[in-house]
Amino acid sequence: MKIGSEISAIVTGGASGLGRASVLALAGAGVKVTIFDISDESGERLAAEVGGQFCHVDIMSEESVLSGFEKARNGHGQERLLVHCAVVATGGKTVRFDKKTGAYQRTATEEFEKAMLGVAVATYRMASVAALGMAGSEPLNEDGERGAIVLTSSVAAQDGQVGQIGYASGKGAVNALVLPMARDLMDLGIRINAIMPGTFATPPMLQVKETNPEVFEGLGKAVPFPKRLGLPAEFGSMVLELARNSYMNGQCIRLDGAIRMPPK
Ligand SMILES: NC(=O)c1ccc[n+]([C@@H]2O[C@H](COP(=O)([O-])OP(=O)(O)OC[C@H]3O[C@@H](n4cnc5c(N)ncnc54)[C@H](O)[C@@H]3O)[C@@H](O)[C@H]2O)c1
Repeated sequence: MKIGSEISAIVTGGASGLGRASVLALAGAGVKVTIFDISDESGERLAAEVGGQFCHVDIMSEESVLSGFEKARNGHGQERLLVHCAVVATGGKTVRFDKKTGAYQRTATEEFEKAMLGVAVATYRMASVAALGMAGSEPLNEDGERGAIVLTSSVAAQDGQVGQIGYASGKGAVNALVLPMARDLMDLGIRINAIMPGTFATPPMLQVKETNPEVFEGLGKAVPFPKRLGLPAEFGSMVLELARNSYMNGQCIRLDGAIRMPPK
């Protein structure tokens, strides 16, 4: 798919971290970008910086998402690219010993459900709404391509750690969605891929640097090569390639410096 000012894109979670890097990469290539986020101030600021638009969208709410897509399309026309980075996740171990009560406790089913809603269900919501819009648009090239979707999974989908039962299961579901959705959308000329980042230097990770510098240093050292956290711009570069390369479809790609996460 040709990447440039002829097309528009929506980036969820675009106000921070990997979403922000995707916004910068796409806008740098001339694409008209709409940021969906609940972080209004930084979202508005970034949109102004790149000449894009911001919509307050909560990925957990069907109503908010549908109204966001409508606003985005009113401003920039039908998006040909969706980059879904936002996530709502909960942590927790399946069974843990609670020192306070002196008894074992399990992570409640409701907590697990919350993670599935914020990771897997929200991903389906975003991807399917984007696909429905793209389905009604004109093909962009001789392949009949109408658009592309890039999801953000995680290496946790394959090597989830202690305490990540909900998050890792949710990301596993994101990976499992990619191939059947690529097949569902094949006659419409819409591609879908997912990126599984390793450990990236985004605000949640940089917070660890503040609170626990030794742990943070260890995170970088644990990467085979390069011995550091991933740069958000490296994620943005992968987003551009997945958008641009029409032969990439139905794939989940690790972007992780060859790290394999240990149990904890
Ligand atoms: N940073 C990493 O090391 C890493 C590793 C693996 C996977 N990931 C994945 O990358 C994605 C982005 O993570 P990040 O590190 O850039 O995080 P981040 O916190 O820097 O950015 C997340 C953005 O999502 C927005 N957001 C949160 N809840 C939302 C909601 N309900 N609706 C809309 N927007 C919402 C936040 O306001 C924020 O701007 C996530 O899917 C995460 O699971 C990150």
